[in-house]
Amino acid sequence: MKRLTIIDISSRKNSVPLVVLTAYSAPQARLFDPYVDILLVGDSLGMVLYGMDSTLGVTTEMMIAHGRAVVKASQKSLVVVDLPFGSYQASKEQAFETAARIMAKTGCNAVKLEGGVEMAETVKFLTLRGIPVMGHVGLKPQSVNAIGGYRTQGKNEIEAAAIFADAKAIEQAGAFSLVIEGVIEEVAKNLTLNLTIPTIGIGASPNCDGQVLVSEDMLGLSGGYIPRFVKRYAELAGATEAAVRQYADEVRARKFPSAKYCYPYKQD
Ligand code: KIV
Repeated sequence: MKRLTIIDISSRKNSVPLVVLTAYSAPQARLFDPYVDILLVGDSLGMVLYGMDSTLGVTTEMMIAHGRAVVKASQKSLVVVDLPFGSYQASKEQAFETAARIMAKTGCNAVKLEGGVEMAETVKFLTLRGIPVMGHVGLKPQSVNAIGGYRTQGKNEIEAAAIFADAKAIEQAGAFSLVIEGVIEEVAKNLTLNLTIPTIGIGASPNCDGQVLVSEDMLGLSGGYIPRFVKRYAELAGATEAAVRQYADEVRARKFPSAKYCYPYKQD
């Protein structure tokens, strides 16, 4: 089966919406691949899988390990891997080194990085050297300390204008698509109208050219605070807990393993 390419994704501007989900593991990639266009190995894995308080502690090694698993277990979707905090902001050369290493070690098709005007030169440097880049503007989780928490962006004209300038700069620098996270709906709608690259919204607008969600959130596997933009398509935490409880009860009662799950003695 042929994998979707950057060209296929670009051609989805103002077309059939792009379906994007995060995937961190081989089982997830195998299950999601037939139904999505892009598998995003997001640095949200730091919080979702490793229980970190933010994405700031995620390392390039983690992204490589999870990215490799997702690429290996998928056939059709474009695979994008996040550049983690501190692995690309220092210089465009540092960004190239990290992105090239991630691409070589995982086999992914593109990388994603957070930032706007300040990252435009870096995005240009990468794209001119054969590294496809997905941008990420609006709420940028790697800047959580600088923006004072995970708060919705674009609430006033100054903020909206800054996000617009960020998006335009990343587009002009050569990014093939742009994640818009946690912004007022009108801001995302306006960006989608004014950009030639597909926009992928999360907590943004149905007018975006695609949508992305963190898979554990939409599957009902994440606990704690659930943002307004998350639709729970399933409640798998409950089903998982019930299965584990039943297993524990059966082991303690010596009901498992029953004969069906044991190898009977056979004489040769
Ligand atoms: O890290 C991530 O999963 C992301 C998505 C939420 C867009 O960046």
